[in-house]
This record gives sequence, structure tokens and C-alpha cells, in this order.
Amino acid sequence: MARINTNPKLVAIFIIYFFMTSHVFTHGAQQQVPCLFFFGASLTDNGNNNMLNTVLKSNYPPYGIDFFAGPTGRFSNGRNTPDFITQLLGFNNSIPPFATATGSAIAKGVNYASAGAGILDDTSRALGDRISMNRQLSNHQTTISGMSSLLGPSTQVQDYLNKCLYIVEMGSNDYVNNYIQPQNYPETASLTPDQFAALLIQQYTTQLNALYTGGARKVAIYGVPPVGCIPQVRAMFPANASGCVDYVNKYTQLFNRRLKPLVDNLNANLPGAKFIYINMSGILISIIASIGASVFGTPCCAVSSAGVCVPNQAPCKNRDLYVFFDNYHTTEIIDRLVAARVYISILTTHYPSEIKNLDQQ
Ligand SMILES: *[C@@H]1O[C@H](CO)[C@@H](O)[C@H](O)[C@H]1NC(C)=O
Ligand SMILES: *[C@@H]1O[C@H](CO)[C@@H](O)[C@H](O)[C@H]1NC(C)=O
Ligand SMILES: *[C@@H]1O[C@H](CO)[C@@H](O)[C@H](O)[C@H]1NC(C)=O
Repeated sequence: MARINTNPKLVAIFIIYFFMTSHVFTHGAQQQVPCLFFFGASLTDNGNNNMLNTVLKSNYPPYGIDFFAGPTGRFSNGRNTPDFITQLLGFNNSIPPFATATGSAIAKGVNYASAGAGILDDTSRALGDRISMNRQLSNHQTTISGMSSLLGPSTQVQDYLNKCLYIVEMGSNDYVNNYIQPQNYPETASLTPDQFAALLIQQYTTQLNALYTGGARKVAIYGVPPVGCIPQVRAMFPANASGCVDYVNKYTQLFNRRLKPLVDNLNANLPGAKFIYINMSGILISIIASIGASVFGTPCCAVSSAGVCVPNQAPCKNRDLYVFFDNYHTTEIIDRLVAARVYISILTTHYPSEIKNLDQQ
């Protein structure tokens, strides 16, 4: 079996990560933002699908095999990217899922993400229930209403919400569990790839404006990762010489290329808005290249036809050597590296004073 070698790039990433972690600790584990909200799909979900009628669930073994609380609804063997980002930002605890967040717990933020969720309401319909971006935004309104009883008049709530950080991960399912399966999603099948990307951007524009209206000012928006490379898509279509299904990655690039200007427009048109585009494709490609000797083509667990782990089967033993835990989702070791990169982008844009002492190379 392949082993991770001591690749200089990987070593550099780890050094950056540990340097940042110690930076946080030397400041007495100070929380760098008062509150943190996550919107997204399965890479961000930490329990919102547990009570839904869907095949996209992960609250059973082997999920959570390396997590202190066991299986929780995180689609990972251990902590997921939001857990690491939350920790890097100095929070003592993870942000609770909307499904179970109650009382004063919402003051530090809520995680609305739901596996299967899309920008389009119909995305992932063939797999069961899911909380689409529109429904996540409406759940956020519920949180905002609940905050008045904690924080007082609505102007005070708005001031507080302005100071929070918002992280949004959307779009992957609109491709994997919608556009590339025209037999299951005939509504959008007649659109060209460019028209489909334009439709997503149009909907997303409305959604991100609604987030702003709800008080969000500091927002990090993930681009879509190269989903043509995930085992689930490679099981659906023949892969190209790249090892990925190239045309799927071309489609998602059409979306990403429109997303970046959307972010620029939001910043230009919305007073006080500081939205950033996180190039998830670039981040993942460089991380995976840096650990090139890892197992890439095979997931760590035995998967169902839906691409999630079969319940109660022992996963691979050397989980740090695998890129994918199931057919969609990366292992904890990858999530840790991704989170470190997202954290750098967030600090650079939103909290430059926090990094004035950090060597940005
Ligand atoms: C985190 O926990 C430590 C130790 O209990 C405490 O000193 C610190 O104030 C806590 N930080 C936050 C942000 O709650
Ligand atoms: C990728 O593979 C598909 C299916 O085999 C093929 O039609 C297409 O031309 C290939 N694309 C490239 C860029 O090689
Ligand atoms: C993301 O990063 C990759 C690799 O650095 C680059 O090729 C691509 O143009 C970037 N995408 C966007 C939308 O900025």
C-alpha cells in the first residue's frame, strides 16, 4: 500500500497549520468572531439530516470512528472542515446543527447544512428529503427571531449579526445530484451547461442578497470542488486519462467562473459587504497533489449505491492514507488541511490585524 511520503509541500502545509494553531493558543484561545454560521451541503452538515427521510445520512458506524462523540451525522471518519475552522477561530465547541440547537446555544452560531442540499430546491430529490439553500435561509430567519429574546431589540440583533462570520458551501449537488443525471431531473435537462450555470448563479444571487438582508456582512463562499474526480461520479461515468470525469469538472468551472464576479458585484453593490470567494477547486487540487502517494481512487469504507458507507462495516485501517472516506466525502486528514487554507483566506480578508505577525510567505 502507498504511504504518504515526506513531501516538502505537505510538510509546509502542516507547518502553516500548526503555526496558526499555536498562534490561536498563544492568544489564550480567544474567540476571533462572536458568532459563526454555516450554510451548505454534506461537507458541512453535522447532524441536520439525522431525522430526515433520506439515504444521505451518516449517524451510524463507521462514520465518526475517529470522532470523540462517535457517529453524529458528520460525513467523515472524524472532524469535518467546519469543526477545524471553528477550532482555528478560537471556539471551544463546535457550532450546533439547527436541528438540535436550542436556547442560548444559538448565540454563537448555527450550522444549517444538509447533505444533498442545493441552490435549486429540487436538487437531490431522487435521494429523499434535504434542506435546500432556500430552506436553510428560512431556518436562519427562525434563529434571528430567537435572538431577540437573548440580545434585545432588533437593532441590537442586527449589529450582532453584522459581526458574525458566515460560511456558505453550495453547488456541488446541483451538479452531482441534478444536472449530470438528466433521467432523474428532467426539468433542467434541456439547458446547456452554460445556461445551467447561469440559472444557478441567478438563484444564488437572490439567496446571497437575502443573507445580507438578514445581517450578514462577512461571508466566505466556497466555489464548487472538482466533483468529476469523486469516486461516486467516477462510478457513474468512464473516467478520462486525468483519472476524473473531465466534462463534469468543465461544467462546474463554468459555475465557478461566474461565481467570482458575483462575489465582486455583491461587494460593490451592498454597503459594508465583505464577501470572499474561496477557490475550493484550487485548494483541493493542491492539497491532493501534495499528498500524491495517498489512496485516491477507492473510498475507505464499503459504500452503498447511493455512495454513502454501508452501516456497521469496518472501514479501512489506515485512514490517514485515504483521500475519500465514502464515495463523496474526504477523510479527516484532508478536511484538516482544507480548513487551514480556508482559515488563511478568511483571516487575510476579514481579520487582517489577526495575521499581521504571521508570515504569509
Ligand atoms: C475556552 O475554555 C477555556 C478553558 O476552560 C476558557 O479559559 C476560555 O475562556 C474559553 N474560551 C471561550 C471563547 O469561551
Ligand atoms: C473523456 O472521456 C469521454 C468518454 O470516454 C470521451 O468522450 C471524451 O472525449 C474524453 N475527453 C477527453 C478530454 O479526453
Ligand atoms: C482556482 O484556482 C485554480 C488553480 O490555482 C485556477 O486555475 C483557477 O482559475 C481558479 N478559479 C477561479 C474561479 O478563480
